[in-house]
Amino acid sequence: MRINCRVCDGTVEAALDLGKQPLANGFLGPDEIAAERFTRLAVGMCDRCTTVQLIEEVKQELRYHDSYRYQASGSRGHRSHFEQDARRFIATELAGPDPFIVEIGCNDGVMLETIARAGIRHLGIEPSANVANAALAKGIRVHTRFFDEAAGHDIRATDGPADVIFGANTICHIAHIGSLFRGVDALLADDGVFVFEEPYLGTVIDRTAFDQIYDEHIFYFTVRSVQAIAAHFGFELVDAEHIAMHGGEIRYTIARPGRRRPAPAVAELLTAEKARGLADPETLRRFTATVERVRADLLSLLRRLRAEGRLVVGYGAPAKCTTVTNYCGIGPDLLPFVIDSTPEKQGLLVPGSHIPVVPPETFTEKRPDFAVLFAWNHAEEIMAKEKWFTEAGGKWIVYIPQVHVAS
Ligand code: SAM
Ligand code: TMP
Ligand code: ZN
Repeated sequence: MRINCRVCDGTVEAALDLGKQPLANGFLGPDEIAAERFTRLAVGMCDRCTTVQLIEEVKQELRYHDSYRYQASGSRGHRSHFEQDARRFIATELAGPDPFIVEIGCNDGVMLETIARAGIRHLGIEPSANVANAALAKGIRVHTRFFDEAAGHDIRATDGPADVIFGANTICHIAHIGSLFRGVDALLADDGVFVFEEPYLGTVIDRTAFDQIYDEHIFYFTVRSVQAIAAHFGFELVDAEHIAMHGGEIRYTIARPGRRRPAPAVAELLTAEKARGLADPETLRRFTATVERVRADLLSLLRRLRAEGRLVVGYGAPAKCTTVTNYCGIGPDLLPFVIDSTPEKQGLLVPGSHIPVVPPETFTEKRPDFAVLFAWNHAEEIMAKEKWFTEAGGKWIVYIPQVHVAS
């Protein structure tokens, strides 16, 4: 299987194939199972610009709509991270007279609420009406639409140039990357910055975080590929920093060419990526063997525990859980339910694997012997919240970077 690169039209050959998968956030009722749709989940690397991307994609209207299940404000960690981001912008890029910030994919307003409270001109662009409405209810200004070239021109016409265009865990979701950058070009002030925080291919590989791969994540960026993408669309990558979100992401800062002096971190990270072969398609192919090992180990552990009569459940039903359960073939026979604190997911089934999602109270009620931690990026917060579980002899099963029972 091969496609043309969405960035540069180079060739992208499938290198890692996680099989047929449903919409990762398509939590569903039992009556919706018959209509569930599956797409092949495979990624490859462009032979020209090195951008790793999905081979097949699901139309954006099927992924983002008025019942999009992901709520960004759902964890304490995310709330405090995005509050810090907002405070940093307020102290730096937004410190001038009458500043203006646009967030692409503002979701329920987790970042913009701090900006709005500070009385700063802002606009969120959010196509999923349910979460956009949650942001509106917080007093945030939001347009319910997809960001693209036309949106960039429209906003520029009504609001003028943006000092900051921000996106978190959103830019990698946008398949029309050329249109996105043309929109940024139309909207960004001459001296403005386009800042985005996205999952990092280096983390996916280091931590065997193959569960970051799902239909919504079209791109798996590296510093090298983002530098190439920026240059391809007439911009320059001027900063790149590791951040701890979602197990380890990178925050990229892009500006118009020659406007900002690139931070030394860009060259440092490029050197580190080169040393570890992150732009080598062979690295991606080798990763397949590691992922297959995790599947084999997780399945054999769950089957053994079931044979011993232990109650094993899942904890957290993030999109990642869809990838893992479908790729490994884990259904309700191995994990009778998954706990999740998101009210909108409770009472529904995990896409494809059809494991029921239940509220945290069920965890306390049923007192399982083991729990597979699907929301592993929130390990600290969850383990602290459910301290009673290990105190009562319960054990956490973690599959990142390899399958183990946490001690
Ligand atoms: N920024 C939040 C965060 O980091 O937690 C939310 C991230 S959420 C995974 C991705 C968001 O991007 C969704 O709310 C989705 O509706 C939105 N989105 C998807 N495509 C978009 C587009 N073309 N323009 C603007 N937002 C988009
Ligand atoms: P995320 O990794 O994409 O942020 O998703 C985390 C999922 O885990 C989300 O569905 C909410 C759930 N969760 C809990 O069930 N309990 C918790 O304490 C936390 C932090 C998250
Ligand atoms: Zn390319």
